[in-house]
Amino acid sequence: MSRVAHPAGPLHASVLPADHPPAPPADLNALHPGIWPRSAIRKDGVLTIGGMDVRALAGAHGTPLFVLDEEDFRSRCRDYREAFGADAAVFYAAKAFCCRAVLRWVAQEGLGVDVCTGGELAVALAAGFPPERITLHGNNKLVPELEQAIGAGIGHIVADSFEEIARLGYLAERHGAQPKVLVRVTSGVEAHTHEYVATAHDDQKFGFSLSSGAAQEAVMRVLAAPSLDFAGLHSHIGSQIFDTAGFETAAHRVMAFATVIRDVCGVSIAELDLGGGYGIAYTSEDDPASVKEIAQQMRAIVQRECRASGLAAPRLTVEPGRAIAGPGAVTLYEVGTVKDVDGLRAYVSIDGGMSCESGDIVVRDLYLPSDLAPGDLVAVAATGAYCRSMASNYNHIPRPAVAAVRDGTATVIVRRETDDDLMRLDVG
Ligand SMILES: Cc1ncc(COP(=O)(O)O)c(C=O)c1O
Repeated sequence: MSRVAHPAGPLHASVLPADHPPAPPADLNALHPGIWPRSAIRKDGVLTIGGMDVRALAGAHGTPLFVLDEEDFRSRCRDYREAFGADAAVFYAAKAFCCRAVLRWVAQEGLGVDVCTGGELAVALAAGFPPERITLHGNNKLVPELEQAIGAGIGHIVADSFEEIARLGYLAERHGAQPKVLVRVTSGVEAHTHEYVATAHDDQKFGFSLSSGAAQEAVMRVLAAPSLDFAGLHSHIGSQIFDTAGFETAAHRVMAFATVIRDVCGVSIAELDLGGGYGIAYTSEDDPASVKEIAQQMRAIVQRECRASGLAAPRLTVEPGRAIAGPGAVTLYEVGTVKDVDGLRAYVSIDGGMSCESGDIVVRDLYLPSDLAPGDLVAVAATGAYCRSMASNYNHIPRPAVAAVRDGTATVIVRRETDDDLMRLDVG
């Protein structure tokens, strides 16, 4: 923790009584492997990321502030590419964190990008992302979004409902286009994760069920549409998954379905997109599988199934979001108040969220230095994915900036919102 000048501001993180905090070593990743950005160092009590002292970052850009280690993000892109090999494709899931600078890094590292709205697609196109390396997802894509995707000539559109197949066929014909279509299937896998981010059990809104026969019907309808080019199958079982058994079961089931398609429709799938969902460590107890292990298992399953059924191996695609964007960022907050509640616990309020909700907790139970005081900085690790991208303006709080750090320099890639931004849409 480091002292900086103190503009007051409310927010709440709760902590246990701060009695005996362990002294962390210089290398934060030695203490908590995989949680801190790869360039994070704590030396003489000072946290640096990308060669930048966090006190200087807070001083120059204010708090709360997302600090994103560019080389961490890029190196995770490369880890995925290397692990899955040259004959597979890695698409970054933009929903984890989407801005032009980051999508340029993704393109430069040779990945594709998957987007799930017209807004994300617009950012990707504005970043100069090659359209043929963009995939559009979504369970209820709007007609303008489909037209935007067809018009831009993006690489793949993932079909998610019968209505959408009909709409897409009609719109593609009207545009004189023939987009590549992947059919999203739900494999019936109950992913071991929070129920709101599990997406492959039968009772949910995404895709076509394998067990009900809907997936086969969907493939047949895409094949029957002259303006659609059936490219293959897509499956995504959920997010923040540690138990790789779920991925394996889904891969088995989807490959078994590919054999059915070959036998019934006489068509071999050219592509197999197995989605994202790889879990990351948020605490020292979390122990996610390595990218290498995951890639090895997925590739082995697909190869085995192909050998057994005589299918030509489809091009494998994966779509990690959290695992690429998550670990490389920390959020810097400034402590506003420290309230000791009758010996029960100390509540440390920081300047990063709501001012009136008791469920607004960054970390519930944590030892922090007992001399923590207003003006100190608190850095929360592993906040690169689904934090800035899911931030809201609830309570009319402007959303924080994102600063990318690298080799001792910082670049603001998303600026902090102002009160003027908050009032821009309020037409009075
Ligand atoms: C279709 C699809 N692909 C990829 C992802 C990325 O998931 P994650 O960030 O968990 O890797 C998601 C997220 O929900 C998704 O819906």
